[in-house]
Amino acid sequence: MSQNDLFASAAPQDPVGSVASTQTAVADEAARLRALLNEHAHRYYVLDEPVIPDAEYDRLFQALQAIEAAHPELRTPDSPTQRVIGQVLDGLTPVRHAVPMLSIRTETDTQASGAEAFDARIRRELGLGPEDPPVEYAAELKFDGLAINLRYENGKLTQATTRGDGETGEDVTHNVHTIRQIPVHLKGIQAAVLEVRGEIYMRRDDFEKLNEAQREKGEKTFVNPRNTAAGAVRQLDANITAQRPLRFFAYGLGDVQGWDIPPTHSAMLDALAAMGMPVSSDRTVALGASGEQGLVAFHQRIGKARDSLPFDIDGVVYKVNSRALQERLGFVSREPRWAVAHKYPAQEQLTLVEGIDIQVGRTGKLTPVARLKPVFVGGVTVTNATLHNLFELRRKRVRIGDTVIVRRAGDVIPEVVGVVPGERPAYVPNFRMPSQCPVCGSTVVREPGEVNHRCSGGLFCAAQRKQALLHFAQRRAMDIEGLGEKLVDQLVDGGIVRTLPDLYKMGFAKLAELDRMAEKSAQNLLDSLEKSKQKATLPRFLFGLGIRHVGETTAKDLARHFGKMGHKGDESKEGIMNASYEQLLAVRDVGPIVAQSIRTFFDQEHNCEVVEQLRAAGVNWPEHEPSAEADAATLPLFGKTVVLTGTLPTLAREEAKAMLEAAGAKVAGSVSKKTHYVVAGAEAGSKLDKAQELGITILDEQGLRDLLAPPPSSLA
Ligand code: IVH
Repeated sequence: MSQNDLFASAAPQDPVGSVASTQTAVADEAARLRALLNEHAHRYYVLDEPVIPDAEYDRLFQALQAIEAAHPELRTPDSPTQRVIGQVLDGLTPVRHAVPMLSIRTETDTQASGAEAFDARIRRELGLGPEDPPVEYAAELKFDGLAINLRYENGKLTQATTRGDGETGEDVTHNVHTIRQIPVHLKGIQAAVLEVRGEIYMRRDDFEKLNEAQREKGEKTFVNPRNTAAGAVRQLDANITAQRPLRFFAYGLGDVQGWDIPPTHSAMLDALAAMGMPVSSDRTVALGASGEQGLVAFHQRIGKARDSLPFDIDGVVYKVNSRALQERLGFVSREPRWAVAHKYPAQEQLTLVEGIDIQVGRTGKLTPVARLKPVFVGGVTVTNATLHNLFELRRKRVRIGDTVIVRRAGDVIPEVVGVVPGERPAYVPNFRMPSQCPVCGSTVVREPGEVNHRCSGGLFCAAQRKQALLHFAQRRAMDIEGLGEKLVDQLVDGGIVRTLPDLYKMGFAKLAELDRMAEKSAQNLLDSLEKSKQKATLPRFLFGLGIRHVGETTAKDLARHFGKMGHKGDESKEGIMNASYEQLLAVRDVGPIVAQSIRTFFDQEHNCEVVEQLRAAGVNWPEHEPSAEADAATLPLFGKTVVLTGTLPTLAREEAKAMLEAAGAKVAGSVSKKTHYVVAGAEAGSKLDKAQELGITILDEQGLRDLLAPPPSSLA
């Protein structure tokens, strides 16, 4: 089948007239959809090179399902709706699964009603009436990666296989051995056979880093974390796999011999976690669909948290918690009746490129940005998506008028991942980079060996000044509430703010004069500027300065290492500003490029002045932050292990975790004898039970706060 056939969307000619000919047309359409779906499934499962987004595949799949439902006689045994697709590649050895690897039914209704429908179905199938108590479910994340079966014999990893077609997978043991998260020996268990099933995936930040490195080398980038993970696991050469940052979460079992499987799914996952298996802590035991502790509440909570999770999920999974009930419910075709996947809006969609604009960034980098026909993707309407640089745009062959796949996942900016072939209008000129900055008119340059075009205007360029201010003001840096894009435009265009310290020199009168800047918002901005001074920490400040290659993590490492900013020309040699190239290299994870970039930044007198002026304006932070390993032992919770479970009334899990870690505690994912405290909130599940069983101290949010800020007398 040629590429163009693949994307032909018009149905075959329908010789309107008799009933017979209409039936032929429907049969032809079913055949066309089957061929199309088989081709796409092959690209997806076998080649790991999908050319359409999943949502588009789902739409075609549902169209075929609808035809087959209305005309059962058209259902063929080889229809993609009738079998699990996937083939075994030549290079890897096929392995027959001891227990087939099933799939789960998908609830396509992304609203709360999807969870209610599942609960209603389970109750009906179990013969429960309205007066019967709610069913208990294990609710967890639906990871977007590659399913894997890990076979442990007498506690030792002996074989890892992909899912393949569900009956037969491929032996990828050599590659799985390179994934550090996957234990080679299970802790405390000697079962003759224990097959653990779960998902191999890649975190979004690791994926971004990988692509950033590819981009800098001018090499081909990867499409999304899932395909990258799947491709890495199925390599013939394990050395390639070893270079990919892969991770794993367990969510089920395969063949088991010689182990008493715990009576509930949640207890089984706890047991796996205790054996050293990575198990996600974002799970709960829900009672029924509705109510505070129901499936709907979980679906909504995870829906809100989806963007801030470090990896992609495409939904949540509900499983009847009791194994006895699971067995009673059984299977229908190749899916268990006791589980369902409840989806969220897709993170990839198709849309049209209406134009290509140029954006000028903080470092002067010129980024081609596709102006798109608005499309709902990853839960928001997207109208722009980055094309990164000229070379990537050329490699992906994007032109105005093309239909493209847009991806928006997490808080990563939306990007164009590829063009749908065969849909380009006839005449479209190739895109060219301008030779002058579209904002300030300065010459555009590209240094030898660099892929990026840059405006040479520096802080003369208003675009660069604006971006520098926005970077400084963002939540993860100085967190200046209310200082958004529109306001920064006005401040810079109106000549009120040129450099970072100018922000803290603005008077009320000047501000209130600005367009739409009512007095109240002027006062609000001044208040949040004031607040930002109090909230500052050395890492946030350093990150906010926008030194090239100094992200949040490097900023934290630098602050921990030096603990001080220092003063240029000062006697003291401790500060970051004064650190030599060699001293910078001694910082964890700082290499030659980063060290040079920091040195170059502070070698420029005006940058040091900016720092001094900001500090003079009152931006300050506690001088002695907990630094270096030597100090760790003095932290109040040093050596303590804490487990978080359930939802706390005011603290998000990440906040609670950060507070605990700052106090020296280790935050673990599962409860064991070594756990010192369990902090439990609403919807706390099996971890709480386990803690009670083991007699571990259980705290609520207030208890956690007391633990973190003990009365002065108890601090030795
Ligand atoms: S359970 C018997 N749980 O989704 C049920 N699957 O179509 C077997 N997946 O191939 C699967 N997260 O790769 C289960 N928490 C989770 C999952 C999950 C992701 C994937 C898995 C499977 C597909 C199911």
